[in-house]
Amino acid sequence: MANKNLSRAKNAKNDEFYTQFADIEKELNAYLDYDADTFRGKTVLLPCDDPEWSNFTRFFAQKFEILGLKKLISTSFAIKSKTYKTKWQPTPFETENPNYNADKSKTHGKIFTLIHDSNRNGKIDIEDLRWNYLEGNGDFRSDEIKRLRDGADIIVTNPPFSLFREFLAWIVEADKQFVIIGNMNAITYKEVFPLIKENKIWLGVSSGAKEYLKPDGGFQKMGNTCWFTNLEHGRRHRPLQLMTMAENIKFSKHKEIRGKEYQKYDNYDAIEVPFTDAIPSDYEGVMGVPISFLDKYCPEQFEIMGMCENEDLYQLKTKIYESAECKQAYFDKFGKKGTYDLNASGVLIKNDLYEKVFQRILIRKKQ
Ligand SMILES: C[S@@+](CC[C@H](N)C(=O)[O-])C[C@H]1O[C@@H](n2cnc3c(N)ncnc32)[C@H](O)[C@@H]1O
Repeated sequence: MANKNLSRAKNAKNDEFYTQFADIEKELNAYLDYDADTFRGKTVLLPCDDPEWSNFTRFFAQKFEILGLKKLISTSFAIKSKTYKTKWQPTPFETENPNYNADKSKTHGKIFTLIHDSNRNGKIDIEDLRWNYLEGNGDFRSDEIKRLRDGADIIVTNPPFSLFREFLAWIVEADKQFVIIGNMNAITYKEVFPLIKENKIWLGVSSGAKEYLKPDGGFQKMGNTCWFTNLEHGRRHRPLQLMTMAENIKFSKHKEIRGKEYQKYDNYDAIEVPFTDAIPSDYEGVMGVPISFLDKYCPEQFEIMGMCENEDLYQLKTKIYESAECKQAYFDKFGKKGTYDLNASGVLIKNDLYEKVFQRILIRKKQ
C-alpha cells in the first residue's frame, strides 16, 4: 500500500510532502559522527524547499554555529508553478515583512539566506535568516538557481520525486556534494545505477523515513524512500557478517535457502540469492541480490558488476530470449496467450518452467 502511494505520488506529480525534523537529524548526525567537520566552512544550498516551514532549513539554521557553516541558502518554488493546488494564503511571516510584494507572492520563488548575526544578539541562528523574492519561480533548472548551485559546496534536500533523475543529473553535472531523498526504485534508473556501480554515489545511513508531512498537516506513508549521497559515512565500510554457502544451506532462517541448492540463472552466469543475509561468504562467482542489498553494501567487501536489465548494458547476459520463446514461456506458465518479458530480468528454471525473479543487482566478492 505504501509503495502504491509512492508511485501514485510520482505519477500524479504530486511532489508536495515534507520531511520531518527527526528524520533529517538522524541522517545528518550520522555524517557528523563520522566527521564533525563535514559542513565546516561550507556553503550549503537547500533547493526545492519551503524555507518558511522547512525542517531542512530549521536544522541547518539552528546548528549554523555548531556545524561551522559559511553560508546557508534555501530556496522555494513559486506557489503558482506547483502542480499541487491548494487554497493558499501568504502567511503573516511574509505579509508583515517589509519585503512583501503581493504581485510576486504567488509567481516568484523565495530565497532565504543565513550568513551572520544580522540581529546582533550574539549568536547566529534561525532568527538571523533573511529572505527575499527570487527573480524567477525558483525552478532548480533555472539559470538563477543553477548559479546558486555552482556557488554551493553541498546540496541537501528532498527533491520532487517526479524530477528525481533530472535533479540528480543537475547535481552531478556541477560535481557537487549532496545528501538527498529519493524513491528506492531510483537505484535501478539507468541514469542512477552506473553512478552507484562506480562508487560515485551511495545510499545514506538511515533507511528513508516511513512518513512525511502533507500540506494539510496530515502524514503521508512512504514505504520505499532512502537517502542518496556522495558524502562519506562510516557505516558503508562495515562488512556484512555472512555464513558460507554450506552454513546457509544448513542453518538459514529462510525456507527458500535451507536444505536447498543455490540456483543458477538461465540467462546470467550467476546464482540467485533472494535475501541479502543469505549471500554466501565463500562464493567466488557473480550473485544476483535484491536492490535492498545496497543498504548494506560495503565496497571493500563486494564489487557491483551490473544489474539484470533489458539492454544488457553491463554485458553480463549469457542468453537473449527470442520473442517466440517469451510467448511460449507465458503460455506454459499462465495457460493463456501473452509475452513473458524474460529479457528484463534474471530467469530461473523451476519445474521445467521459466520464472523471472525480482529486480537483482549482480555482485561479486572483492578479489
Ligand atoms: C518532496 S517536496 C519536499 C520539500 C522539502 N524539501 C522538504 O523535504 O520538506 C519537493 C518540493 O519541490 C518543489 N518543486 C517541484 N518542482 C520543482 C522544481 N522544478 N524546482 C524546484 N522545486 C520544485 C515542490 O513544490 C515541493 O515543495
